[in-house]
Amino acid sequence: TVLIVDFGSQVTQLIARRVREAGVYSEIVPFQSAEESFRKLKPKAVILSGSPASTGDIDSPKAPQVIFDSGLPVLGICYGQMTMCVQMGGKAEPSDHREYGRAFLNIEKDCALFKDLWPAGTRHQVWMSHGDRVIQMPPGFEIFAKSPGAPYAVFGNEERRMYGLMFHPEVVHTTDGAQLIANFVHKVAGLKGDWTMAAFRDKAIAEIREKVGDGKVICGLSGGVDSSVAAVLIHEAIGDQLTCIFVDHGLLRLNEAEEVVSMFRDHYNIPLVHVQAEDTFVDALEGEMDPEVKRKTIGRLFIETFEAEAKKLGGADFLAQGTLYPDVIESVSFTGGPSVTIKSHHNVGGLPERMNMQLVEPLRELFKDEVRILGKELGLPESFVGRQPFPGPGLAIRCPGGITRDKLRVLREADAIYLDEIRKAGLYDAIWQAFAVLLPVQTVGVMGDGRTYEFVCALRAVTSVDGMTADFYHFDMEFLGNAATRIINEVKGINRVVYDVTSKPPGTIEWE
Ligand code: XMP
Repeated sequence: TVLIVDFGSQVTQLIARRVREAGVYSEIVPFQSAEESFRKLKPKAVILSGSPASTGDIDSPKAPQVIFDSGLPVLGICYGQMTMCVQMGGKAEPSDHREYGRAFLNIEKDCALFKDLWPAGTRHQVWMSHGDRVIQMPPGFEIFAKSPGAPYAVFGNEERRMYGLMFHPEVVHTTDGAQLIANFVHKVAGLKGDWTMAAFRDKAIAEIREKVGDGKVICGLSGGVDSSVAAVLIHEAIGDQLTCIFVDHGLLRLNEAEEVVSMFRDHYNIPLVHVQAEDTFVDALEGEMDPEVKRKTIGRLFIETFEAEAKKLGGADFLAQGTLYPDVIESVSFTGGPSVTIKSHHNVGGLPERMNMQLVEPLRELFKDEVRILGKELGLPESFVGRQPFPGPGLAIRCPGGITRDKLRVLREADAIYLDEIRKAGLYDAIWQAFAVLLPVQTVGVMGDGRTYEFVCALRAVTSVDGMTADFYHFDMEFLGNAATRIINEVKGINRVVYDVTSKPPGTIEWE
């Protein structure tokens, strides 16, 4: 394991990703509890992240001293370099010359970190983002690279296997940054890159068996990638001790429910309860205009329906969930204060406390793209594991205003045509999420010789890396024109199509 001590940088997760891509397992821990984690996890190397903090701050965060005393290889990135510098006996101070963005690094001297990658005398593009600067290196440290604004851009102590970088190797704008992190892991720390998804799968299966014993497990299946991969993995571990409950709220896309049921029942032979609860959900939502009330109603009904089905099964000892690593990482915050609720997210999060069951969360250590790789490893079709995210409340939040069965039908048909066009144009994988929205607005049109007065459909497509921020997708107009024509011609109830060109922020991805 490589331990990553998080000082609150925006990009700490990327460090963990790069280490794993180098075939070595990594975990992120907040600096406040890093000492405890260090003793527990017994890592083979440590990386110190960047931070919005400054070593000049009175309560500047520190790395546990045991890390420096342990003799293990340490890589300090940005703030991590500064605190390494100060804690090892050097000096750093806040600088009035802040350097952000692209910079060029001149390699001054060869070292293990640069081996076979950046020989002395070469120049490389890196991504700087720092406010502090080194004024005196710790004893025994030397300079390996400089940039015009940073005389200590890379320093280190070869014998102690410690390096400090003033730039971010984990971001894509640093050319060969991933390779530099791989060098630290393989060449400096001497770790073998043998952490693979196949190995993860075997370990996860063994752990599930040990935890569950001969207990019973139920898993809420949503049709999404995470819960599906979790279910298939658990089924591989414990077979029919697992039962899946698929609460079909009638708010899924065209043919989606049938596909989920047939994949799990027919293809994987996993015991599955398909709860057809469309009436419960749609009746309760009909006429409701308020987005938050809609979301909360769906959340409440979901839990009630799920609980009732679990009871019918005679209960279970464990509840399985597709929780991912980003949900688990404790975030380090320097801003404090409660954040505002933009939307009440719907997932099965509230279930465990209510149902008094232990949790099985086999994906807790994985990032989304790792879950996709694991899904493939488990034989899930490529087209399934590559699916775009879909929100728990489904089409209800893509039908602003009150929903009706007929509006849902119209939306489903338009959405299916839009996605079909996107797939045919080969754009599906380039887009984070694409979907149709049915607006509660009717407009006048003319078709054939007649007047029409029908609904407006908005098309949305965004690019994003994590759903937190997003840009609208820049389709060419011809594509949009074709999609609009098909939707208006083929879907009864829509006579106008518009394209949403709002990014996030200020918009959100979904309309409600
Ligand atoms: P917003 O609309 O907040 O969405 O920009 C960000 C991402 O989250 C998805 N989303 C949800 N996912 N339950 C979910 O599981 C929800 O209630 C929910 N609401 C939004 C949305 O599709 C996008 O990927």
